[in-house]
Order: sequence, then C-alpha cells, then structure tokens
Amino acid sequence: MFRRRPLTPADTSDLVPPLAPDDHVTFDRVTKSFGEVGVLKGIDIRFKRHETAVIIGGSGAGKTTLLRLLIGLDRPTAGRILVDGIDISRLGEVDLNRVRRKFGMVFQYAALLDSLTVLDNVAFPLREHRKDMSRAAVRDKVVAMLNLLGLYDKEGHMPSELSGGQRKRVGLARALMLEPEVLVYDEPTSGLDPHTSRMVDDLIEETRSRFDVTSIVISHDMASAFRIAHHVYLLIDGAVAAAGTPEDLAFGANDAARAFIAASGVASEQLERIAGGRTISRAARQAEERRVLEAEGESGQDVP
Ligand SMILES: Nc1ncnc2c1ncn2[C@@H]1O[C@H](COP(=O)(O)OP(=O)(O)O)[C@@H](O)[C@H]1O
Ligand SMILES: [Mg+2]
Repeated sequence: MFRRRPLTPADTSDLVPPLAPDDHVTFDRVTKSFGEVGVLKGIDIRFKRHETAVIIGGSGAGKTTLLRLLIGLDRPTAGRILVDGIDISRLGEVDLNRVRRKFGMVFQYAALLDSLTVLDNVAFPLREHRKDMSRAAVRDKVVAMLNLLGLYDKEGHMPSELSGGQRKRVGLARALMLEPEVLVYDEPTSGLDPHTSRMVDDLIEETRSRFDVTSIVISHDMASAFRIAHHVYLLIDGAVAAAGTPEDLAFGANDAARAFIAASGVASEQLERIAGGRTISRAARQAEERRVLEAEGESGQDVP
C-alpha cells in the first residue's frame, strides 16, 4: 500500500525559550509584506495546546493577514510558522494540505450556504475529504454533532430559518466535522447582540474543553476577549504591542494595552465584572468539581 512519507520536524534549536511540548502553533519572527508595504513586522507568538488565545486589534492592524498565514492560505515573507514542530511555511502543497487538516475554521457570520439544508452545510467537509464514508454514516455523524451542540431536529432546516446563535452553532458543527486539533474563529461575535455574544463565548469555551482543541480567536471585541482568553495578543500596526492574560492587559503597566481598552469603550468596572464571571474561570471551576466528584467516586469504590 502507498505510505505517506512522515513530515520532518524543523530544526528549532535556535528558539529561545526552547520549543515546549505544549507549543502547538508557533509564530517565529514572522513578517509579511505586500510589495514594499510591511503588514506583519516580526510576530512571535506561542499558541499553547488546549488554551484559548485571542488576537485583538483595530481595523488594518493585520489580523486577517495573520489568520491567512496561520491556516496556510498564504506564506510569510520571512520567519517560520511551526505546527507541532513542522515548519508549514516551507511545505509543498500536498504536505501543506495534510497539515491544514489539523485546523478547523469558524468563519465570520458562520458563512453558511443559504441554498443548502443544515445537514448539507455541515456534511460538506466530510463529502469533500471523507469519500470513504457512506451517506448514512455522514448523516449519522452530522446529526450526532448537531445534537451535541444543542441543535435537535434542525438537520432539515434552511439556514434562513435559524437564529444568529443557531447559525453560529451550525458553522461550528461544520468546522468540527474533520476533528481538528486547532479551531480558528474569525470575529465570532461581530454583528451579534450582547446576549448572543455571551452565548457564543460560552460555546467557544465549552467546545475547547469538550473536544480538547486549541482555540485561536481573531477579534476586535474586548469584552469577549476578556471572557474567553487565557492569553491575549494586541496587534497594532503589524506588531504585537502587548501580550498577556486579560488581567495583565487591563490592569498592568502596558500603556498601549490600556489605551486600546479605553478606546474600546469597555469601562474598567465592567472589565472587573466580566473577569468575575469569566467563562474560562467558570469552566475551570466545573472541571475541578468534576475531578473532586470522580475522586470521591473512586475512593468510594475502595470502601468495602
Ligand atoms: N493582499 C494585499 N495586498 C496589499 N495590501 C494588503 C493585502 N492584504 C492586506 N493588506 C494591507 O495590510 C493591512 C492589514 O490588513 P488586514 O490584515 O486585513 O487587517 P485587519 O484584518 O486587522 O483589519 C492593511 O493596510 C491592508 O490594506
Ligand atoms: Mg480583517
């Protein structure tokens, strides 16, 4: 049988600090220019496995350019992008396509095909990439995912019959079909009302913990970044102007970060309130409760 040659990891001995096992996707001195114009100017980011990173920045900062490099739609002018130690900026098309399969993409406004049912929208990646699966198996997998995401009996609906939050879930279901390791969200809360935005934030966190994915979120929504991020990277004029936890950015000494937050119109009392109800701290609490319950369950079995 035809066997694929394994991908050769890049020599990362020059990286400081050294590449760690939890460095899932690494931007190493990445620049991108269009002609004479430098759009990304030396980006260093370590996206950590199973965490949520939010790239935040105003219009024209370079977010979309960074996203296109991340999912391999475009190549950097200089620098490296390492996915599990493999430098994707040097790969040929065939190998690049293999690495691309590790990424799931949740597009802005869900980007559903309006003339197709929910089933056909979500089944799309399977029908493209899993020609070995029967129609029935595809349908079962789609319906199971829709149910997991709380979309019961919606497979026959048209996208126009769904609410904004439901459309987001359908877009997410489609992104999860090929079982990605990294989920990339482009402006997931843009155009949504505050209530639906909070639901989408919760959904991003639930998805991360349930499917054990690494989440990378492109956003200009500071309130959302504050709820879901383990790490925030503030992009200004093609460079990372501030990086840290949301609390570091809001209450730390970085003037660029504080100015950006002030300009975003999210007041500091509001940030503290959001921090108090953080989606990720709530999820961490729930995980801790589950661990305690399981530990009690196990020790319970030891009692004769
Ligand atoms: N293909 C391209 N050719 C030339 N300039 C581009 C191209 N793509 C983006 N740019 C420029 O790069 C800058 C950053 O764009 P972009 O990454 O879309 O920012 P953002 O998504 O943060 O709004 C802008 O000034 C934009 O005009
Ligand atoms: Mg953009």
